[in-house]
Amino acid sequence: MARPSARTAAPRPLSVVILAAGEGKRMRSALPKVLQPLGGAPLLTHVIATARALEPQAIYVVYGAGGERVRAALPEAPVQWVLQSERLGTGHALRQAMPHIPAGHEVLVLYGDVPLIRAATLAALIGRAGTGGVALLTVRLESPEGYGRIVRAGGRVRRIVEQQDASARQRGIRECNTGVLAAPAGPLQRWLAQLTRGNSQGEYYLTDVIALAVREKVPVEPVPVADPQEVLGVNDKAQLAQLEALQRARVARELMLGGVTLADPARLDVRGTVSAGRDVFIDVNVVFEGRVILGEGVRIGAGCVVRDSEIGAGTEVHPHCVIERARIGERCSIGPFARFRPSATLAGEVHIGNFVEVKNSELGSGSKANHLAYVGDATVGARVNIGAGTIIANYDGALKHRTVIEDDVHTGSNSVLVAPITIGAGATIAAGSTVTHAAPAGKLTVARARQTVIEHWRRPVKPRR
Ligand code: UD1
Ligand code: CA
Repeated sequence: MARPSARTAAPRPLSVVILAAGEGKRMRSALPKVLQPLGGAPLLTHVIATARALEPQAIYVVYGAGGERVRAALPEAPVQWVLQSERLGTGHALRQAMPHIPAGHEVLVLYGDVPLIRAATLAALIGRAGTGGVALLTVRLESPEGYGRIVRAGGRVRRIVEQQDASARQRGIRECNTGVLAAPAGPLQRWLAQLTRGNSQGEYYLTDVIALAVREKVPVEPVPVADPQEVLGVNDKAQLAQLEALQRARVARELMLGGVTLADPARLDVRGTVSAGRDVFIDVNVVFEGRVILGEGVRIGAGCVVRDSEIGAGTEVHPHCVIERARIGERCSIGPFARFRPSATLAGEVHIGNFVEVKNSELGSGSKANHLAYVGDATVGARVNIGAGTIIANYDGALKHRTVIEDDVHTGSNSVLVAPITIGAGATIAAGSTVTHAAPAGKLTVARARQTVIEHWRRPVKPRR
């Protein structure tokens, strides 16, 4: 994920703890909540990427019992995994990570199911913690139901009260706790050790550290989040869809600010990363997956799905193409209704037209397969014209074989090239041929029955009664 790097303003080394031990029952899914995809990557991956942008000393992910799947799904994640074997509350969760963190560090607490938080927001938050203070990311909500409320006295933050423990008056408070906070590790460890479960949920509340800090006269700085959308969490599939829409808008905006023209930013889905040159145009209902690179002036038609592919400058992809692991050269014309399976490499000015499938093949410059063809396991030279309905029969029922088509070959309509086979340079294959042996260069090869006329043949007729 491309995230802006935001150097932390913290004067001290930073440790990030991501709480991710929730069960996510409301997702009603076999997939753990923090592995649910947002923009094609697990929720947790987004949070880890944002944390990394802060260049911390270490990132700890607190996962729960049964969360082995989360660890297994992200084997390469640059994090240290900490097990919270019993789910006894957010304070208890953070406590599991503390023994790993040196007392001189600054601790930033994030959540595996709050994926849209920005590195710049966090860097600013850490900056506001100052030296030795606590910074609390807050949000003002018109309907604060379910959130911890920020209780102030004389204008200063005194403590956080959870919804379930709040008085009717406290429930009227609109200033809410996002859960994200930055605090010095040493004191934080001391406060966490003092937490009790004497509350309506019988949990160790992380939020209770605020009152403990206040008691020790440690400054507590509430920092309102500039964009409340950043702190939205995912609890069910409806919220997941809501965040997906926000993510979509973010990515679309980045592309547009980079010079890409989008027919409709709400109808582009990026499930991975896209890099695009100048004057790229993307029509509606396009899906990009994995790593997609678009050269200058590329045009992508409506309804295309492009996965892990590179498309050269000036190439036009017409509507409804499915392109996977292809490297398409410059000034090519693709589709409509073309399909690239892994993998294909096209030189410049290649035309692949409607209902043409290309797989594991290379095509040289200026070659064309404009209609209804299968090009599989083939090395195709330059200026080759693959006629309508040409099929490369690459599979003998057991093994795949390669086909070599040299420069300037023309294959007639409805020809079958049975691999392994080589078609020599400049050869022409007659329409309707089934070619099973090498076709010599520069010659016309015909491999079909000669046309004959049956003189006395009669069409059958129904017997009359
Ligand atoms: C928490 C805050 C509340 C805040 C709200 C914002 C506490 C006590 N309350 O409430 O002030 O307004 O978040 O959304 O902190 N988790 C664990 N292990 C646990 C419990 C929770 O890892 O034992 C993780 C969950 O996966 C989740 C996060 O911590 O991602 C928050 O836990 P949750 O129980 O949802 O807290 P809230 O009740 O929402
Ligand atoms: Ca919650």
